[in-house]
Amino acid sequence: MPIRYGIVGTGMMGIEHIENIAQLEGGAVVAVCDPDPVSLDAGVAAVTKTSGATPEAFEDHRALLEAGGCDAVVIATPNHTHGEVALDLLATDVHLLIEKPLCTTVEECRAVAAAAAAGPPGRVVQVGLEYRFMPPTMALLAEVRSGSLGAVRMVSIREHRFPFLSKVGNWNRFNRYTGGTFVEKCCHFFDLMNLIMGDAPVRVLASAGHDVNHLDESYDDGAPDIIDNGYVIVEYDESRRAMLDLCMFAEGSKNQQEISVVGDIAKAEALVSESVMRIGRRSDWSVEERQIEPAGIAHVGMHHGSSYLEHVAFAESIRTRRPAQVGIQDGLLAVAVGVAAHRSVETGAAVMMDEVL
Ligand SMILES: NC(=O)c1ccc[n+]([C@@H]2O[C@H](COP(=O)([O-])OP(=O)(O)OC[C@H]3O[C@@H](n4cnc5c(N)ncnc54)[C@H](O)[C@@H]3O)[C@@H](O)[C@H]2O)c1
Repeated sequence: MPIRYGIVGTGMMGIEHIENIAQLEGGAVVAVCDPDPVSLDAGVAAVTKTSGATPEAFEDHRALLEAGGCDAVVIATPNHTHGEVALDLLATDVHLLIEKPLCTTVEECRAVAAAAAAGPPGRVVQVGLEYRFMPPTMALLAEVRSGSLGAVRMVSIREHRFPFLSKVGNWNRFNRYTGGTFVEKCCHFFDLMNLIMGDAPVRVLASAGHDVNHLDESYDDGAPDIIDNGYVIVEYDESRRAMLDLCMFAEGSKNQQEISVVGDIAKAEALVSESVMRIGRRSDWSVEERQIEPAGIAHVGMHHGSSYLEHVAFAESIRTRRPAQVGIQDGLLAVAVGVAAHRSVETGAAVMMDEVL
């Protein structure tokens, strides 16, 4: 049976989902929803262009739900709306893919987690932490899991990239709509740290600022307050720590993300734009460089094929009735680390994860 998808929020990422689902075997977008007429038209046009079909179009996700007909729904709305939309969808039995961040606060994440836990058995709820599915990152994760690095002690992630893009209603200029940069953008990286360490962190220390980007912009909501650079230290225990180096005015970077994992035997690095993984061994000081050829990706899209692989995983969980590969607790923990990082920036002190969880 083909899976019938609905897309709630047909801005940039909603269109990316439509284009990816069109390439999936046994998947079809049958409904789209967006209160913004330009986005809604773009969503309908994207479905027609990629599949030849005309989806039902709605301005409100509740109308989409009432109409029925969707087996799975993707939530690709602004961050601050994820909680409300997800809770309405979780009151039904549709499968859900919720874009990152799960929500903008830990409290909202908890409410969504509770509703998901109370849902029908076999219902899949996946969080869109798709950086796990980027080919060089997948290769690095496989290396960590193989044990070839030994006991992992340090994870360092650098994201040096371009500023936030323009969004519908400019929601991504404001902490109150995004959760703050460390929640909005960096939940991807905190999720990778948690995954690599196989654990939850205990303490977070951060320094950050809004120093370069969007300083001359002004909106009905006021002046942007979103940070554009910072460092975050994430401690897992006395002997395992991770670090994030974020700069959003670094267009002149060869790799948008560089991930380094050091164990007591060897070190692995993933260079995401170049699709390279390196393994460096302590025993002979050798460094082996592997070009990672993306495999099984039918649509590369805007995220190196990770959106496609994320959808393959989501569809597989639905068909096999297995839990999502990226679950609600992963989404909650990634948000919590971002919340702790923002609290640390505000207070100038280290924040125990217990304080935010
Ligand atoms: N996985 C990734 O790497 C990645 C990349 C970009 C964005 N995102 C996430 O995707 C989501 C959407 O981001 P975007 O870049 O597409 O933003 P966008 O502004 O381009 O699109 C958001 C759309 O949602 C619509 N919308 C607002 N409230 C709605 C509601 N209640 N119901 C239905 N639609 C609603 C808006 O009108 C707009 O068309 C965000 O949560 C963002 O963090 C994830």
